[in-house]
Amino acid sequence: MLEVNNLQVYAEDKMILNNLNLSVNQGEVHVIMGPNGAGKSTLGYAIMGHPGYSIEEGSILFEGEDITQEKADVRAKKGIFLSFQNPEEVPGVTLENFLRSSRLALTGKPVKVFAYKKELYKAMETLNMDKDYASRYLNVGFSGGEKKKSEILQMLVLEPKLAILDETDSGLDVDSVKIVSKGVEAFKNKNNSLIIITHNTKILEYLPIDRVHILQSGRIVKSGDASLIEQINISGFRDFIPKIVH
Ligand SMILES: Nc1ncnc2c1ncn2[C@@H]1O[C@H](COP(=O)(O)OP(=O)(O)O)[C@@H](O)[C@H]1O
Ligand SMILES: [Mg+2]
Repeated sequence: MLEVNNLQVYAEDKMILNNLNLSVNQGEVHVIMGPNGAGKSTLGYAIMGHPGYSIEEGSILFEGEDITQEKADVRAKKGIFLSFQNPEEVPGVTLENFLRSSRLALTGKPVKVFAYKKELYKAMETLNMDKDYASRYLNVGFSGGEKKKSEILQMLVLEPKLAILDETDSGLDVDSVKIVSKGVEAFKNKNNSLIIITHNTKILEYLPIDRVHILQSGRIVKSGDASLIEQINISGFRDFIPKIVH
């Protein structure tokens, strides 16, 4: 589904990712871990097509198509979704209307109001969200945890083929982490793929993990199966710092 080849990404004039390779098949769940400042969010932005991050070398293929230079809205229409580490507040637009117009923009098909509401409320129930949130302005006055839930709600309603979750679990209390992972579980099926960027391995307990990658200084220094998570929990990232050879 996703092929990232030899990616080099700059923000401003600074090289942030270099020679990064990542391949995610349909149905797979990949986890990306790594110290602060390693470039994890940058990778999410680069895959999503954030205009502030320029790809100077390498390519990104999605379902076999080269999307390296496509704009974010084109990528979203193709089925890529990124949940932000710090979701923005959008005064004047209710959560419900935001999701409905996003769906319309992505699919091009008008959404029937009644069917849509039913679906929205069902997704909100999965996330233990009060129905009242649907008529509140998007993320305005939402607590950190509520913002994260609203990101997961978007994922459930928009049903992307590839969802990238950037620290969606950070800053959540124990109960909210459980609810968010329930939402992620509800989203996941054999046709879609997930990339989860996280420090919190609790969110992963209910998910089958196919691959774990450690990102350090702008590239993936180690990949492995789920057992790598346990190793990181015990000894941190220091074992994976690449040795500099002179
Ligand atoms: N827009 C930007 N302009 C300049 N530097 C940036 C920008 N975005 C990220 N960086 C830098 O790139 C590095 C990686 O950042 P980031 O991808 O957010 O790391 P992570 O998500 O792994 O903590 C950091 O040193 C950060 O300061
Ligand atoms: Mg980050």
